[in-house]
Amino acid sequence: MTTIPTGPTGDQSALFEADPFVFFRDLQKHGDVVAIDLGGIQTAVLYDLDDIHRIFADKLDHIGRAAVFTRLSHATGTGILTNYDWDTWHPRRRRIVKPLGARKVGQFHDRMIAIIEEHLDGWPLGETFDLYDAIRNITLPVVADLLFTEDLNQDAIDIIERAVDEIHTWAESDPTNTDVENEPKSFRNAMDALDAFIGEVIGKRDPDSPGDDLLGLLIAAIDEPDARLDRQSVRDEAVTLILAGHETVTANVAFALDLVGRHPDTGTADPRHIVDEALRLHPPVHITSKAVVKDLELTDNVIPAGWEVLIPEYVLYRDEQYFERPDEFLPERWEEDSPLHLVPRAFFPFLTGPKFCVGRHFAIMEATELVGRVLDRFDYDMLHPTPPEGRPFALTFAPDRPTPCTLRSKEAS
Ligand code: HEM
Repeated sequence: MTTIPTGPTGDQSALFEADPFVFFRDLQKHGDVVAIDLGGIQTAVLYDLDDIHRIFADKLDHIGRAAVFTRLSHATGTGILTNYDWDTWHPRRRRIVKPLGARKVGQFHDRMIAIIEEHLDGWPLGETFDLYDAIRNITLPVVADLLFTEDLNQDAIDIIERAVDEIHTWAESDPTNTDVENEPKSFRNAMDALDAFIGEVIGKRDPDSPGDDLLGLLIAAIDEPDARLDRQSVRDEAVTLILAGHETVTANVAFALDLVGRHPDTGTADPRHIVDEALRLHPPVHITSKAVVKDLELTDNVIPAGWEVLIPEYVLYRDEQYFERPDEFLPERWEEDSPLHLVPRAFFPFLTGPKFCVGRHFAIMEATELVGRVLDRFDYDMLHPTPPEGRPFALTFAPDRPTPCTLRSKEAS
């Protein structure tokens, strides 16, 4: 017999906004599924791993876009991240996932490394610079190159960067801003410039031979009868990939390097383990929320249509039921058979089930290469006295303060 979950009564927004981490950890004392009112939205907060995995494995058609993504969808349109119309999502997702899958993603490796190395050559020795910004100056061209290759130039990168900044400002889940309709002018202007650039590139490509980059593969699918793609949706997928594909990696690499900088003994660890441990302590997607569009039956509860479900990943990833010494930065946790990682299923930084991150293999390749190459080439000091935390209401859980650092070349030290 299933029931609607119960929890503390009254709007919990103020407590949530005061400190989301503490809020969600305290809430867990009420049970594995806890009902709260978050600013008028009835929300079931989920801590039970079976429930969480079951929703994404078997119950996709019960979920939809959460309110917090409404503003983002002004930029991404019908792109797969914000698209819950499964009839169009499925065929488009299939087209995008193919070139980015584990066996194919290596085709992008050499171009990625060329961009990374070119930028690292320009990192200034002995001067103070912001690590986060410097990494973002790499991840943005890397994801843009994945889409546009030969059509990319500095002007285009500037247009993309301005649009991305505007999207972030507009789409951030500022709890005090409930206006989801009236776009700021600066946002619309930046989007118009981005749309003009993408439209021009699509128009320039030969439909019979549109190129091997991701944009080309999407354009090639326009004529396929079951692909459900047209020019507008190719644009939507391109904007989606740019957005989903750069700040996430930037945040992950910035946290990873900041952590190593503060724990120099970890600098010789496997870069992949450093990346995973940073994903655990500072998951770029730290909270997942979804609208419930059909009654959602869980192990002991039913979440009614009209509610939202919320998964506080960053609380789960610091739970000592699942991770030994959860607050410590221990890259060796990710070595095979490490006793420090107790429950593998408790870690899903790229989500789980068929809607998991389509760029996962690309992201891991990029973050591992970036971290590995920076550590090979440089010694560095993080200058801020305290490590950054994540920004809880931003689109991505990126560092909440500047990340100044100074570099020394490895050979010189
Ligand atoms: C460390 C880096 C990254 C992390 C932690 C990450 C995490 C995630 C997560 C958790 C989701 C699911 C969001 C949801 O539905 O609630 C997602 C979706 C997505 N990600 Fe990533 N991501 C990363 C990098 C990338 C990259 C590099 C790309 C593209 C090249 C990318 C493209 C996408 C797309 C298109 C989706 C939507 C998939 C769909 O809904 O079908 N991501 N990502």
